[in-house]
Amino acid sequence: KIESHLRPQLLDDYIGQEKAKEILKVYITAARERGEALDHVLFYGPPGLGKTTLAGIIANEMHVNIKITSGPAIEKPGEMAAILNNLQEGDVLFVDEIHRLNRQVEEVLYPAMEDYAIDIMIGKGASARSIRLDLPKFTLVGATTRVGMLTAPLRDRFGVIHRLEFYTVEELKRIIARSAKVLDVGIDDAGATALARRSRGTPRLANRLLKRVRDFAQVKYDGYITEDVANYALDLLDVDKCGLDQTDRNLLMTIIERFDGGPVGLDTLAASLSEDSGTIEDVYEPYLLKNGFIQRTPRGRIVTDLAYAHLGILKQNHEK
Ligand code: ADE
Repeated sequence: KIESHLRPQLLDDYIGQEKAKEILKVYITAARERGEALDHVLFYGPPGLGKTTLAGIIANEMHVNIKITSGPAIEKPGEMAAILNNLQEGDVLFVDEIHRLNRQVEEVLYPAMEDYAIDIMIGKGASARSIRLDLPKFTLVGATTRVGMLTAPLRDRFGVIHRLEFYTVEELKRIIARSAKVLDVGIDDAGATALARRSRGTPRLANRLLKRVRDFAQVKYDGYITEDVANYALDLLDVDKCGLDQTDRNLLMTIIERFDGGPVGLDTLAASLSEDSGTIEDVYEPYLLKNGFIQRTPRGRIVTDLAYAHLGILKQNHEK
């Protein structure tokens, strides 16, 4: 089981990602009826949207164990072989940041995913030979923020590939209400709305902010979370009214101040921010794009009027 009591354990308790829930329910039911392991599943999308939580729910609903690891944690093919060999029939192996597996480790996964087998080299030099070791049937659940970085052979071995979406304010409100109940803290509707609006479409952030706001409510107020309490705490935490954090604002300000609001090419922007261009594209940009703070044009990224208004900057000042 994955710890953290704020994570739902069952599909029916999971809020949002309706499409993912619908298809997973069908595949889980079908696999269970046939007495088989679920096909391998790949989740991708920005961080904090529930990839790990869904992996835990899959294991729970399939009544199997889950083993959790990550791309950077497995350095040698032998380590991956050992993990696979220790699984039990039907188990879920969750590999977070799966795009960061190195090539040799990844190659162990190909026959494992396809044939439930691994090839092990015995001996050295001219007498070296490989023997095939059968594995229990298992389900690989992979998660990545950078689906473009997966190699084709790995991507092609997943039977289910699903992109997770940002949550609506309404969905986040329901998650916050549920979490508040679990944490035993009172919150009114306006308080939940304020928190939800400022959670960047992301349950992980919503739950983190809820805990911090609860601390403020307890120490500075009477323990109950209202809109005022939420706003007071969130202002101090530097999360703005639209859920943008310092990284988001820094990205927008860089385009505005150094590139006159754009257009600026992704690589130029990345160099200016000392950040990896792929990370900007897959991790930072999606929320800004979805909410209309930036736009992609053929000539690069531009900051929108909405962003200028939100940041309180007069656009005229920056025009050539
Ligand atoms: N906690 C974190 N993510 C959640 C979700 N999607 N539904 C319910 N509770 C959650």
